[in-house]
Amino acid sequence: MVLAYHERTKHHFQRYAASPGYMDWATQPDPFRRYQGTDLVRLPLAKPGRPLPYWQLYALGDVSSEPLSLESISLFFRYALSLTAWKRFHDTTWSLRANPSSGNLHPTEGYAVLPAIDRLGEAPAVYHYAPEEHALERRAILDAKAWSELCAPFPEGYFLVGLSSVHWREAWKYGERAFRYCQHDAGHALATLRIAAAALGWGLVLLDGLGDGAIAGLLGLSRGDDYGTAEREEPELLALVTPALPSTFPRLLNELMTGGICAQWYGEANTLSPEHSANWPVIDEVAQATRRTASAVIAEDFSGFPTGEELFGIPVVRQGLLTAEQAILGRRSAVAMDGFTAISQEAFFRTLARLMPTRDRRSMPWDAIPWRPRIHLGLFVHRVEGVPRGLYALARDPDKLAPLKDVMRREFRWQRLPSCPPGLPLYLLQEGDCRALAATVSCGQSIAGDGAFSLGMIADYIDGLATYGAAFYRNLFWEAGMVGQVLYLEAEEAGIRSTGIGCYFDDPVHQVFGITSREWQSFYHFTVGGPVEDTRLTTLPAYDLEEQR
Ligand SMILES: Cc1cc2nc3c(=O)[nH]c(=O)nc-3n(C[C@H](O)[C@H](O)[C@H](O)COP(=O)(O)O)c2cc1C
Repeated sequence: MVLAYHERTKHHFQRYAASPGYMDWATQPDPFRRYQGTDLVRLPLAKPGRPLPYWQLYALGDVSSEPLSLESISLFFRYALSLTAWKRFHDTTWSLRANPSSGNLHPTEGYAVLPAIDRLGEAPAVYHYAPEEHALERRAILDAKAWSELCAPFPEGYFLVGLSSVHWREAWKYGERAFRYCQHDAGHALATLRIAAAALGWGLVLLDGLGDGAIAGLLGLSRGDDYGTAEREEPELLALVTPALPSTFPRLLNELMTGGICAQWYGEANTLSPEHSANWPVIDEVAQATRRTASAVIAEDFSGFPTGEELFGIPVVRQGLLTAEQAILGRRSAVAMDGFTAISQEAFFRTLARLMPTRDRRSMPWDAIPWRPRIHLGLFVHRVEGVPRGLYALARDPDKLAPLKDVMRREFRWQRLPSCPPGLPLYLLQEGDCRALAATVSCGQSIAGDGAFSLGMIADYIDGLATYGAAFYRNLFWEAGMVGQVLYLEAEEAGIRSTGIGCYFDDPVHQVFGITSREWQSFYHFTVGGPVEDTRLTTLPAYDLEEQR
């Protein structure tokens, strides 16, 4: 099912994946889910200007851990999933968020399971995050016994966050390919959650052994009556947030949550579209085929990975331009690239180094997921000072260098750059101007050719699926989304911008790199470069600060 879905949702030069082909504005989905009948707890907005430097997000252990409070939870959601601006053009306004989304449709919903916290709630509870209000909706009050059973395996001061997807929001515009975009968006959101936790000195790890039924049970997604005819949410993932960095990937009691936990539930979901103009049954089929049952926790060996020093060179970067808050809340997708801005070699290497897990498993956000990288990069370098133009490869798992060489074009050079840090597995494949080629394979989008560099993410597809089963299809997109989120923030720090590119021609990308085996598949594109601002738009603040303080 997964292989068939992936094949049929490829874009080809002569045929795009099945979609409505137009936007039916009358049925445009509401980007804001609300649960009517729940208590809404407003989260206080902190004064902007938190001084934590951006680079410190990656220096784990350096940021002192914030105590769990209404204020720290507020900051956590502010950095992870909140609105960051409203945009206006003539009579139309729309909001942007800390997490990006394909088509700005935002299929991802956020949840938290929190202990009793002063001014937030007197009892442990399940909350849904409402980004428009920057507030938490109390969906359920947990039985004290249920909470202490849930807590049992974990250190004190922990809480849980969860993500779900409303497929319809993406399917409304993108049709069958929408499932892929929902997964990318979930990956971006997993990264924003990890990064938000890092900004508060907290650890965050994905609870990967859990079944989807358990996640749905805990978050209330399986409560059919609460949805009525409203669009359902697909459980995606649950992560553990801890005051300190956990050294292992713990396991929740799956059985405890499947079938619902002992709690008093509140609220009914709002309907997002008055009707659904088209149905895409293949999305339900692939969702079903990739649902997870409880499984063994993934444990992979990272001893062959480089150290931080080997990746970044010495000294490891401990300075920069922005604060963490400026990078996180200021992040935006470029809508066009200027076609001339070049970036320095240092910024290029540092950005790529941030995409690598390290031997000690302490590189953020890669410490949140337990599997070795299955996403590698095929780069189109256009304008990086001192780096020849051309095609490059970054083998994000050093052990996959030989298989990548094997699967790609015979004539590629696989040459190291003299100035590249020793631990960064970056290789020049072929010199040349590939601006037109990059744009062509990105559905003709000029942003891919007009940036400093762009890239295709090449998934070690069958290896992932064969090792961990069909559910791992989602993990591949999550990993790609996480790579994208790091690129977004690194571009901000370098004074440029970035954009995720979900529209690309799958097989033509494989041809560029000479990949004929179906075992490796193109999973996502990205571009990084000097942006062109759209000066026709007015930018308005995300929230009325006075009202919320
Ligand atoms: C999975 C994904 C795919 C995307 N694909 C494209 C694309 O093909 N072309 C494009 O111009 N922007 C693309 N974007 C950027 C979105 O349009 C952008 O994130 C959204 O409009 C919200 O704006 P923001 O990122 O500034 O918050 C994509 C974003 C994501 C997360």
